[in-house]
Amino acid sequence: ANGVFTYDPGFMSTASTESAITYIDGDAGVLLHRGYPIDQLAEHSDYLETCYLLLNGELPDAESKQQFIAEITQHTMVDAQIAKILDGFQRDAHPMAVMVSLAGALAALYHEGLDIDDAAQRKLAAIRLIAKMPTLAAMTYKHSIGQPYMSPLNSLNYAENFLHMMFGVPADKPNVSPVLAKAMDVIFLLHADHEQNASTSTVRLAGSTGANPYACIASGISALWGPAHGGANEAVLTMLNEIGDESRIEEFIARAKDKDDPFRLMGFGHRVYKNFDPRSRVMRKICDEVLADLGVENDPLFKIARRLEKIALEDEYFIERKLYPNVDFYSGIILKAIGIPTSMFTVIFALGRTPGWISHWNEMLSNPYKIGRPRQLYTGPVQRDYPA
Ligand code: SDX
Repeated sequence: ANGVFTYDPGFMSTASTESAITYIDGDAGVLLHRGYPIDQLAEHSDYLETCYLLLNGELPDAESKQQFIAEITQHTMVDAQIAKILDGFQRDAHPMAVMVSLAGALAALYHEGLDIDDAAQRKLAAIRLIAKMPTLAAMTYKHSIGQPYMSPLNSLNYAENFLHMMFGVPADKPNVSPVLAKAMDVIFLLHADHEQNASTSTVRLAGSTGANPYACIASGISALWGPAHGGANEAVLTMLNEIGDESRIEEFIARAKDKDDPFRLMGFGHRVYKNFDPRSRVMRKICDEVLADLGVENDPLFKIARRLEKIALEDEYFIERKLYPNVDFYSGIILKAIGIPTSMFTVIFALGRTPGWISHWNEMLSNPYKIGRPRQLYTGPVQRDYPA
């Protein structure tokens, strides 16, 4: 009740924390980052500017934006030890398992003398994480295909650099499509933060103990991995491939409605949005643009996705339960069109969500806080004596 947003007492009793970073109205399909609607940011801003906004609370002026980009650029390289850690993984290790380890490795590299009560050191941790996640993600991918790692290039922007490190080779000069780089940048932006979702709450809970921030991010990556959360984008592609043909859509819709069948329609439904997810509308528009630009608008998976969305939105079961496409429904199709392998989809989500995670961590530590301690309703036996 800050004079602008007021909550009914029922909601207040469920709120686990206070935050000024992101506001979601699930019924109205509203998502604001520091007051700015997500569709306006997707239209007019870019990922690094949105990272600055999440961290600092205001959009940067031109000079602050350049300074922020320069700081990020300065920290894109990673310690040579990281390559040795990657060598310990088999090539087909799931990239999310690798990323949990690499974020944890950053905790080992940046631990001595780390004072998380110092605002400047917290900001440096945020800069390092936003800067290094693309490098770690690209190295994870290169390791999986046995190709040499690509160093970040200061001459490229954030999204171009990521795609260069993912798909570039030492023998070739950088060659990144501006359309794909722009699509990548908007995908990162759409994933940047989302209030107290499972992985952000995990980062906050870990951070509330005073743990190393890089280790807290490793815990967030772990929580994001599940198919009910960030793993859904990978699960959407698996589902679309399993459907395989528009003629089989009704069969899968029936399975999604069958209580005895654990199958759920991946990319549909949300814990908070009981109306459309504003991010999926933007994602759908990018999907159109990227597929058209690549001349694959007749991609069979995209056609199945479009038809599946239409049928589900007209089906009583989904309407009654207010199940709409969420952020993950279309992102996988765009990522596939860009050439990102399915196993890397959730890594892209983790990369995009890093500024959200670390902004919530920084916000919590910038104010007096206590260790998190969720309580429970005990449903076990009453006290009893050990048998004589
Ligand atoms: C993300 O929290 C966040 O903000 C997350 C996220 C973020 O940015 O951080 O937005 C990202 O995680 C998006 C969600 C990605 N997950 C998926 O797409 C996986 C598929 N979706 C479902 O697993 C599910 O919708 C959840 C997990 C997202 C939500 O599950 P809930 O809370 O159980 O959904 P609900 O309570 O609203 O369900 C109501 C009914 C139930 O049926 P009934 O018991 O009432 O008969 O709808 C059913 C559910 O069984 N249902 C589905 C369904 N989702 C819910 N039925 C079929 N297919 C689905 N996808």
